Amino acid sequence: MVMDDDARAPEIPSEVIDALRRAERVVAFTGAGISQESGVPTFRDAQSGLWARFSPEELATPEAFRRNPKLVWEWYAYRRGLVAQAEPNPGHRALVDLARCVPEFALVTQNVDGLHQRAGSRDVIELHGNITATKCFEEGVIVEDYAEGGAVPPRCPRCGGLLRPGVVWFHEALPAEALERALDRARRADVFLSIGTSTVVYPAAELPFVAREHGAFVVEVNPQRTPLTAKAHCSLRGPSGSILPAIVRGLERALAESRGS
Ligand code: APR
Repeated sequence: MVMDDDARAPEIPSEVIDALRRAERVVAFTGAGISQESGVPTFRDAQSGLWARFSPEELATPEAFRRNPKLVWEWYAYRRGLVAQAEPNPGHRALVDLARCVPEFALVTQNVDGLHQRAGSRDVIELHGNITATKCFEEGVIVEDYAEGGAVPPRCPRCGGLLRPGVVWFHEALPAEALERALDRARRADVFLSIGTSTVVYPAAELPFVAREHGAFVVEVNPQRTPLTAKAHCSLRGPSGSILPAIVRGLERALAESRGS
């Protein structure tokens, strides 16, 4: 067990620290829960006030955009504003530190808020895109320079098509290259951490199960049970903002001890 100066710090089972200390390859897979402590509302939580009367299918599908591009653009502009007000929390920062403690680390996220990158994580594999990115609806390519302040949505400077947010909507495929990289990392992982995700939205949700089948030690970090809980080697029930820093402290201590012995 990890002993800690702070009596409120969660205890991390020694099997988790041992697995991380021995691991060559570690994957962290995150969902909306890790950003919850930053105050980023989930898609459904953001649907308050004016937005409550719309279903997700009216706001986050290609069909919705075709039907009412202005409404969909404005919904994402509103959510971009919410994300801009949020700051990375200790859970995001602990993953930056964890990457420094292990030989090979991959961070795969379903989140579109960019908080991992703002905390300092590099090479984040984004399965559902990024809310700050903009794509051309016609060509599907990322567009960086476009005129704002005119038509809503703005137009693509290359082809004149409508611009859309660079996220993956319901009914859309995940970016193939990102999904393939994530699956490859999951298959090769020694330790796989599934953090703050309900593990129900496929295909992303298959990653921890793939890692498990290929021999990874699977650790779940979530205050609630999920479909993964019964399959995980260890389920750490609590908020990632305190559990992840405790994991990193425990690992740093174990590494220092093994260097000293
Ligand atoms: N720390 C860790 N986990 C938390 C915390 C916390 N502080 N607070 C909540 N959770 C957990 C919840 O118990 C839940 O299991 O985070 C999970 C969030 O689940 P979802 O809202 O379903 O988010 P996610 O799994 O990322 O959803 C996947 O579905 O809505 C679409 O495209 C969207 O990327 C999203 C995808």
